[in-house]
Amino acid sequence: MITHEHALELIRQHVTTDNTKKHLLATEALMRALAQKFNEDEDRWGITGLLHDLDLDITKHELHKHGIVGYDMLQHEDMDEEMRTAIKKHNYMLEIEPETLLEKALYVTESMTGFIVAVTLMQPTKKLADVGVSSIVKKWKDKKFAGGVNRSIVEKSQTMLGMSVEEVAAICLQAMQGIHEEMGL
Ligand SMILES: [Fe+2]
Repeated sequence: MITHEHALELIRQHVTTDNTKKHLLATEALMRALAQKFNEDEDRWGITGLLHDLDLDITKHELHKHGIVGYDMLQHEDMDEEMRTAIKKHNYMLEIEPETLLEKALYVTESMTGFIVAVTLMQPTKKLADVGVSSIVKKWKDKKFAGGVNRSIVEKSQTMLGMSVEEVAAICLQAMQGIHEEMGL
């Protein structure tokens, strides 16, 4: 299987924006935590998270291609089909229903990372260590806050993963706190 080091090299080649790189690291940490929770392979889930927005520099102005381009970019890498389809299907704009647990986990949870960054930047200290799950949940209900985060996708966590939004927030916060230095938060 593709190594972690090679996945990072692909990111160095294809991802230029700092925010996207941090988002990818956060998603990797989150997917590793979810894999642990569901007794799945941490490396497979982590690397899928790490590479899920590999095409964003190319597709950011044509988001109907986001995920499809990434799927193609990764076709010669040593990754199994499920890892690549999870990357394709995570773009909810494509309206392709995620089927496997890995596909569902990425689809439902990845935008929580951006939401937690937004909540963190509201803190006087701007530190992940000072964010609590309750403040994330409170902001979640304020639809004007971080309006770009599609609440209805994350809220599928209950049916798709058997997890409440609060549980997703908690696992995501803990995962991100574990890499706070890389996140710069
Ligand atoms: Fe993403």
